[in-house]
Amino acid sequence: MKNQFQFWGKNSSDTSLFIIRSGKNLKNFLGMIMLFIISGTMAQTPKATAVINADQGVYIINRNIYGQFAEHLGHGIYGGLWVGESSPIPNTHGVRNDVIAALKEIKIPNLRWPGGCFADEYHWMDGVGPKEKRPKMINTTWGGVVEDNSFGTNEFLNLCEELGTEPYICGNLGSGSVEEMSKWVEYMTSDGESPMATLRKQNGREKPWKVHFFGVGNESWGCGGNMTPEGYAENYRRYATFTKNYGENRLYKIAGGANSNDYHWTDVLMKNIPNGMMQGISLHNYTFTDSWTNKGNATGFNEDDYYKLLENGQRMDDLIAKHSAVMDMYDPTKKVSLVVDEWGAWYNVQPGTNPGFLYQQNSLRDALLAGDILNIFHKHCDRVRMANIAQMVNVLQSIILTDGNKMLLTPTYYVFDMYKVHQDATLLPMTINSPDYTRLGRSIKSVSTTASMDKNGAIHVTFVNVDPHNAIEINCELRGSKVSKVTDGQIITGKEIDTYNTFDNPYQVQLENFKDCKFKNETLTVKLPSKSLVTVELK
Ligand code: AHR
Repeated sequence: MKNQFQFWGKNSSDTSLFIIRSGKNLKNFLGMIMLFIISGTMAQTPKATAVINADQGVYIINRNIYGQFAEHLGHGIYGGLWVGESSPIPNTHGVRNDVIAALKEIKIPNLRWPGGCFADEYHWMDGVGPKEKRPKMINTTWGGVVEDNSFGTNEFLNLCEELGTEPYICGNLGSGSVEEMSKWVEYMTSDGESPMATLRKQNGREKPWKVHFFGVGNESWGCGGNMTPEGYAENYRRYATFTKNYGENRLYKIAGGANSNDYHWTDVLMKNIPNGMMQGISLHNYTFTDSWTNKGNATGFNEDDYYKLLENGQRMDDLIAKHSAVMDMYDPTKKVSLVVDEWGAWYNVQPGTNPGFLYQQNSLRDALLAGDILNIFHKHCDRVRMANIAQMVNVLQSIILTDGNKMLLTPTYYVFDMYKVHQDATLLPMTINSPDYTRLGRSIKSVSTTASMDKNGAIHVTFVNVDPHNAIEINCELRGSKVSKVTDGQIITGKEIDTYNTFDNPYQVQLENFKDCKFKNETLTVKLPSKSLVTVELK
């Protein structure tokens, strides 16, 4: 309001003089007052303009971009998902019912398991058969705790069936053998007369499961074996050769890809792994407030830290563009997918929790980060066909937190709920002229977007406004479409940039109805509140 009054005060005497001298009537005078007020008010709200070409969509936003990740880490599995059949916490075959219901709601398309770093020290045979006979081990990577192997292959694949989600198994290349990996695939997918199919049947599962996504090792440049890219590529070729397609099952093999901006790793793998031997190559990139050594806090941060985290998050765009450019040199028709199978915010662990458990809270800032990064994945959906946020429950940027029998949905969960309309929809080309959000003498774009058309012709437009102070009015021209009205609107926002949900107050940030939008003359007008995510449906 400050500017509006200054503007009016500065001009008022000049204006009355003009009115008196020109002898206009009172009606005109009042009209001018209104004009000044309106233009003053409009000067308050930064504006953005956008154009959507609804008849020019080519690429599909693969639903697998919405994948999740559950590692044997902290309470990611034990307590968070798996409580066992005899638990007083309501469960289905040992998995919490509250978590199952929440996951079904957002239609998770695939679930990566058992790691992460844990995958390269996991020996699958320890996790099948009668539970009392399963050996215990120490989870040396994550907290040094005892892993009793009560959640193993059967439990995981049955859970995927219950959820209607595709399993994404990560095989052990680091400390396992070619034979072990080969037999795991046989155990899960072979329908014929074979030793592993027989073992599966003895363990109570007659029919094989369908397993499509199969990762050949994890972070082989680090916890997965500290290999060189040349060494990993050579190993990949051996291991991949002996992971077979049984019956109708077709593996979609994903090579362990680069850490963040290691373009050389991508280059060597693309060069040394023959065509058709890998369907995807992964990329891991976490977002820190400053860096790996200065991760920042999940809550209680100031605006500088807010800005830095979101700025770092937006770097995903550049990373993907550069890895894709390397891949294009070897694979111009984009047969191999870039699979961002670990992404999300990584902060200092919550004080008082086991540092090896990577437990952190999740605030409105994380929702904005997730929205921005998903918009980036959509933009690159010609190459990025799969991604997995790390991690699903109780670890890093979780969508769900649990505490004993209590469960809460984090702000990030609501982003996956809001964005599910984009799964398998056609990406519509969209340009936006967004104002900047400036802090620390640097700037990022305030607004990121996605527009998509689903198979019924409904158009969904998502806007993320990271500016913590300013609402932004967006006028978005919709070309080449038959839609006539806004049929739905949803918003995620909160009081403060670090507002978060607690077990005592679980709905501080959630999905709510949004009405501040209209569609007229082929133009969608949206008043996007500060620090918010909005999705509008047009039919
Ligand atoms: O997600 C936590 C860990 O981060 C994973 O185990 C590992 O792959 C990555 O370094």
